Order: sequence, then structure tokens, then C-alpha cells
Amino acid sequence: MSNQYDNIGEAYNIKKELTYTLLQDANVEAVIKPYIRGARVLDLACGNGHHSRACIGWGASSVVGVDISPTMIGVARRLTTLEQIEFEVADCSKPKVYRGGEYDLVFAGWLLNYAPSGNDMTNMFRNVALNLKDGGHFVAITPHPTEDPKAHIEAMLAASEGKRGRDMYLTGFVEGGVSARVVLTPRDPKAESVGFDTYYLRKSVYEKAAKEGGFESGLAWTAISIPDGFEESLGDRKEEGLHTYVTAPPMAFMVTCKELSGSRN
Ligand SMILES: C[S@@+](CC[C@H](N)C(=O)[O-])C[C@H]1O[C@@H](n2cnc3c(N)ncnc32)[C@H](O)[C@@H]1O
Repeated sequence: MSNQYDNIGEAYNIKKELTYTLLQDANVEAVIKPYIRGARVLDLACGNGHHSRACIGWGASSVVGVDISPTMIGVARRLTTLEQIEFEVADCSKPKVYRGGEYDLVFAGWLLNYAPSGNDMTNMFRNVALNLKDGGHFVAITPHPTEDPKAHIEAMLAASEGKRGRDMYLTGFVEGGVSARVVLTPRDPKAESVGFDTYYLRKSVYEKAAKEGGFESGLAWTAISIPDGFEESLGDRKEEGLHTYVTAPPMAFMVTCKELSGSRN
């Protein structure tokens, strides 16, 4: 699974056109707002650098984006002209101190869902803790937290009816949850769809991994919401069934804080 994005590359750009992504980013902006102004940010699993660039727009002073795929980092470098952003290829499940750390804020848009087990996810949290300054925050986009990922995948499919442009299909069972395939369907019917494999682990696995990885204070989850004016802002791209993003949510936003060293015992 770790090198699958080397075959995706530029094609992943179709995601930025989707209502799914616009709604995701409106929510990320609101969740990250208290921590972003002037922050030195580490963007893990940065992909094509979409959120690295967004973080500068939201007020960060600099961003280092890291991804396991050399192809995605190549795309990120091509799409980014801002000198406050640098990119690096690395596996974020292997704890490593990145240049420019410790960071004020670590962001991970869709990293934790690539952990095939609780132990792998613990290593991802360890990596975040290693690179975050004391008192710094970790913000992540994750699958919607649930103790029953299979039932939630079924609920999402029933709600989406193929209309969301992003659908998830169960492919198997793993310790701690399920494996799944995500398919992105472009708005342009002539463009090809993009698929990738991922994991959907239980909420309790995320919470245990966070504690074992150094985030003793636990996780705060924010459910996806539709901000005032969002539907109107879509204009002629308005989607039927926008409310299903709330009733059968495809994602959630997780925040945790690295405790100040004096407050640990
Ligand atoms: C769904 S994309 C998300 C990209 C970007 N964060 C966004 O939200 O647009 C997932 C990215 O995670 C990367 N990835 C998967 N496993 C990883 C790992 N262990 N370490 C670093 N990057 C990883 C993939 O290469 C891919 O670029």
C-alpha cells in the first residue's frame, strides 16, 4: 500500500474539484484556525501539497511537507511556488526528526488511515510527538470515528448512492478494523476515476495509539458540519444530498496537544 501513490501522481488533482474536498477544507480551516497564525507547520502525508499551500493561506509562517511517495512530492514541488514551503520524502510511520523542527503545529490530512494496525498507528503518533514542541497541537483529518467501521461504510454507501464523487468499499478485515478501497470519481465524465487502498480502524484503536504514542491528554473529535453559506457558495455545482455528509459522515477532524513538559509526571 505504501507506494500506491507513485502510480497516482497528478491524477490525484481531480480531488480538488469535488464538493467533498471543498467541504473538507472549510471544516479544516475552522478547526485549525486557533493554532495556525504565524505557526511553523509540519504537514505529514502532504500528497501534492494541497494543505501545505492552504496552511500558508490560512496564516502559517512556513510549512515542511512530508510524504512517502517520491511521485507525489514531485507533483507538490511542481505545484508550489511559495518559498516558505519545502518538501521531503519520508515514511511518516518511522519516527524521524525532520529538518526545521520542533514545529508549532503538525497537520496530517489522511495519514492515520494508512496504519494497518494499532501498533503502526502508535508509531505515527510517536513521530508526531517527536517533531512537535511542548504545548504544540496536532490536527488530523481521519475517517469518521466509530467502533463499527463496516457498518459505517455501508451507511456511507447507502447515503452517497455514488453521487459524492468519493466512495469507500469494504475489502477485508484486519485486527482493529477493516481494509477498504476508496474511489474518487471526477466531475468531468471524460476524466478517469482514481482508486486507492486504505484502512478504517476503530475509534478506540485511534485513542489507544494516541496515548501510547505520547498524547496522554487524549483526542478531541470534531464532526463534519456544513458551514453557513457553504451550499450557496457552490453555485451551479450545488449537490443534491449535501446533508448526507452530516448524517453519514465520510470524515472527522481530530485535535490533540503535546503536554508541556512541566505538566507531565
Ligand atoms: C489521500 S492522500 C492525502 C494527501 C493530502 N494530505 C491531502 O489531504 O490532499 C494520502 C497521502 O498519504 C501518503 N502516505 C501514505 N502512507 C504514508 C506514510 N506511511 N508516510 C508518509 N506518507 C504516506 C500517500 O503517499 C498520499 O500522498
